[in-house]
Amino acid sequence: NEGSLWGGRFADGPSPELVRLSRSTHFDWQLAPYDLAGSRAHASALAAAGYLDADELRRMRDALDALESRWRAGDLQPRPEDEDVHGALETALLAEVGPELGGKLRAGRSRNDQIATLIRMYLRDHGRAIAAEVRRLVEALAQQADGHSDAVMPGRTHLQHAQPVLLAHHLLAHAWPLVRDIERLRDWWARADRSPYGSGALAGSSLGLDPAIVAAELGFSGPTENSIDATASRDLVAEFAYIAAQIGIDLSRLAEEIIFWNTREVAFVTLHDGYSTGSSIMPQKKNPDIAELARGKAGRLIGDLTGLLTTLKGLPLAYNRDLQEDKEPVFDAVETLEVLLPAFTGMVATLRFDTARMAELAPQGFSLATDVADWLVRQGVPFREAHEISGALVAHCERVGLELHEPSDADYAAIDPRLTGEVRAVLTVEGSIASRSGAGGTAAVAVAAQRAHLDERLAAL
Ligand code: ARG
Repeated sequence: NEGSLWGGRFADGPSPELVRLSRSTHFDWQLAPYDLAGSRAHASALAAAGYLDADELRRMRDALDALESRWRAGDLQPRPEDEDVHGALETALLAEVGPELGGKLRAGRSRNDQIATLIRMYLRDHGRAIAAEVRRLVEALAQQADGHSDAVMPGRTHLQHAQPVLLAHHLLAHAWPLVRDIERLRDWWARADRSPYGSGALAGSSLGLDPAIVAAELGFSGPTENSIDATASRDLVAEFAYIAAQIGIDLSRLAEEIIFWNTREVAFVTLHDGYSTGSSIMPQKKNPDIAELARGKAGRLIGDLTGLLTTLKGLPLAYNRDLQEDKEPVFDAVETLEVLLPAFTGMVATLRFDTARMAELAPQGFSLATDVADWLVRQGVPFREAHEISGALVAHCERVGLELHEPSDADYAAIDPRLTGEVRAVLTVEGSIASRSGAGGTAAVAVAAQRAHLDERLAAL
């Protein structure tokens, strides 16, 4: 079996059906530059332990560099009979430096420690790129908040009008979870900062190689602590998939609001033409497809995580071939976010808000009823009673078709003598918002402080 990594103990080559099932080059070929970087570092570890002389090390590393250039140029491809990226690259190396030198590289390592290292390298690179994209989205939200620092809107719970809030406050409420996602990626990074290389198949190497040499060259802070854990665990891959799914969920929740705001009935936003789509039959249509795709892809990202967790559940130590199934879900998660995030950020950055419409709707639905109760509390009425009185006022207004500030002083007094015309002073959206000035509240002063804290958190990343 020409070019296979195993075969010595086999009388027959693999059946074609097995070859087809076993092959992973169609998805792991993208790990080739990481595999080659690992091989270069491993060659140095072999040389340090005396298994390669200086000239062999130089020729080996030059050959690996040459393979990387060919891979980058797109003219290094796996052959159909190659099982995985590791085998394909060994075959290519043998062709490059000859079987004598090329055959020395595999000493003291296994595909099991290689692949565990490569997936970390891949996720570290893409994690950095995704964090940068999420940060751009946070900045787009912050910019929209800055551009609408005194716009008001109906704040909702249960999708019902609840209390008026500043639009900036609401937009920043979508920024914070994304900041935490970036922080999650950074925290994950610290755990993923150990190199499994040198763990061998599961038990480590008997050749006296120093895994710290490989770890340092690959940019890890050091080698893993336990060779069995290093080759068998994929919790770091699953954790990355969780963070990707959480980013998807955070985008999806904002997406759902944008879809809602963009309906004719709500009409809070207009989407930029460049970030919306038309219909093939209805000429008038302008659809929020980016937001819908974000909502849809959140399901896909959750599926990637769920599939991976299900693969891991019940696997005995150490390496099992099931672990090959770890890659496609996270590759999919990475590719999904790397395509979705730039489009989503463009949509958010170019959203136009109809602030007049939002201001018109902000006081509707008796959203200032809590302000009536709070006013009564300031007059010395216990909140329990104040809540009852304010509720009675709402019921009255609903019955006669008035807003809370519209009944006469006599009608107020008929509801409760403690309810006087002076309550009208707090029955404005601006007054209601300005009164919520505690830390984290929706008053302009509190939102300005929050906005400054957001910059501090971003600066610390
Ligand atoms: N391609 C495998 C993976 O992705 C690594 C190869 C290990 N194969 C083996 N038979 N031990 O996990």
